[in-house]
Amino acid sequence: MSNAGATLVGKRILLLGAGGAVRGVLEPLLEQEPEALVIANRTLEKAELLAEMFAELGPVSASAFGVLAEPFDLIINATAASLAGELPPLAASLIAPGRTLCYDMMYGKEPTPFLRWATEHGAAQAIDGLGMLVEQAAVAFRAWRGVDVDSAVVLRQLREQLG
Ligand SMILES: NC(=O)c1ccc[n+]([C@@H]2O[C@H](COP(=O)([O-])OP(=O)(O)OC[C@H]3O[C@@H](n4cnc5c(N)ncnc54)[C@H](OP(=O)(O)O)[C@@H]3O)[C@@H](O)[C@H]2O)c1
Repeated sequence: MSNAGATLVGKRILLLGAGGAVRGVLEPLLEQEPEALVIANRTLEKAELLAEMFAELGPVSASAFGVLAEPFDLIINATAASLAGELPPLAASLIAPGRTLCYDMMYGKEPTPFLRWATEHGAAQAIDGLGMLVEQAAVAFRAWRGVDVDSAVVLRQLREQLG
């Protein structure tokens, strides 16, 4: 998020999905002291379990997709729906035009269905997960090899290769 110039203090965050990727980002997101963090998942029980597990760290709750309507400042798609070219059932009202930042953990040559949906509904930014991939690889490389990688250079090269 820092690469996107976003600060999360006091913000409303919506996390789509309740798999391994969501579990991994919950603690760092809650450390940023958002006003609210909602986990929405196709299988509601998995979102509820995660919300329960992380409840001590901040204002986290669980939801199904269909009942959400109020806008969020940040929406992160951490479902695997993009892998199948699909989009979770999301109300357009979740996006505050010109304000909401939408982030898909998935990345590829073309914008994902989620990022296309975000752009169509006026999201302030629609960002894919290539930066996340590079930044976590840079941290791992430093830990294992003791070498600092210029992640901005790597990200630029990967973007060029993706075309
Ligand atoms: N950029 C990066 O560095 C990075 C790192 C990690 C992951 N990712 C991406 O993040 C995504 C999730 O990874 P993960 O490891 O968390 O996967 P996972 O543990 O398998 O979890 C998959 C999640 O996606 C949901 N889902 C799958 N198909 C769906 C559909 N058609 N509609 C709505 N929800 C659907 C599942 O819901 P149910 O619980 O209902 O099955 C579950 O919450 C993947 O796209 C992966 O490529 C990116």
